[in-house]
Amino acid sequence: MTDKINELLRRVEEFRPNAAAEIEEFRIRILGKKGELNALLEEFRTVAPELKRELGQRLNLLKTRAAERIAALREELQEAAEEHAAALGDTTRPGTAERLGSRHPISLVRNRIVEVFSRLGYTVADGPEIEDDWHVFSALNFPPEHPARDMQDTFFIEKDPDILLRTHTSSIQVRTMERQKPPIRVICPGRVFRNEAISYRAHCIFHQIEGLYIDEGVSFADMKQSLLYFAKEIFGEQTAIRMRPSYFPFTEPSAEVDVSCNLCGGKGCPVCKGTGWLEIMGCGMVDPNVLQSCGIDPAKYSGFAFGMGIERIAMLKYGVKDLRLYFENDVRFLHQFDEAL
Ligand code: PHE
Repeated sequence: MTDKINELLRRVEEFRPNAAAEIEEFRIRILGKKGELNALLEEFRTVAPELKRELGQRLNLLKTRAAERIAALREELQEAAEEHAAALGDTTRPGTAERLGSRHPISLVRNRIVEVFSRLGYTVADGPEIEDDWHVFSALNFPPEHPARDMQDTFFIEKDPDILLRTHTSSIQVRTMERQKPPIRVICPGRVFRNEAISYRAHCIFHQIEGLYIDEGVSFADMKQSLLYFAKEIFGEQTAIRMRPSYFPFTEPSAEVDVSCNLCGGKGCPVCKGTGWLEIMGCGMVDPNVLQSCGIDPAKYSGFAFGMGIERIAMLKYGVKDLRLYFENDVRFLHQFDEAL
């Protein structure tokens, strides 16, 4: 019987429960009415009187140890549970909302420009970023020795100078004219590439959006009216535009379009460098040579084209002073833009 008592005592000491339910099970098995301790007490009645004193003490010890151990284990488990709960905090509290992403400012401005021109009947056209000389230069009336073809501006593929990264999205307009008969009214947004040193005002990758309108009897006045409408929609009703003579190989006559400075209202400020005007795009009447190259009869049709840098429009719209911010994708920058353009 001594062995049985010792064995049970050992099991009590070595008991390592994982859950409260295990402790309760153990308690019932050892201390319960039909438990092992009671079985031993039953047996105790029948032992010889001279052993009673010794065995009685051991049984008492077993009983108190078992009760103590069970109480201690319960407390331990309870503490661990409380610690765990404290680490989690109040699990019924409302969660913290994840901040939603926002659209990139370049996409916002592009979408807005597309939307304005779509109201004038323009549809979006797309084309490849890796182009050939014909679609970027030759069809657009660039003479073979024109400086814009120079390695300074254009990324060429070393093995084949006929393959290059488009330097403007005018290549999409060429592809559209080759494919489609007038009337043509397309807007061509896209990424363009120029071999320029990266600074706050220039990047080797940027975005353009160009437009083309070709039909019978399209005039310079139509162009001016369309671009004025565009400027007012983007920069506000009070916006005025002016056109300065310029040169592009693919348009004649050509012009640079300025909008009145929306910061100083045309009075002159640091942003417009005291002039009251901000340059936003190039434009012009499509050169008859270009129409001819693309299979459109210049005797019958005329048209205008325009092109602008999306980064530039976004900079003016949002007051962004460093072009590089558009490419770094710092969320602190990106979160400042929302759909309310
Ligand atoms: N393609 C010209 C550029 O990249 C912009 C432009 C387009 C000018 C159409 C006039 C007409 O700078």
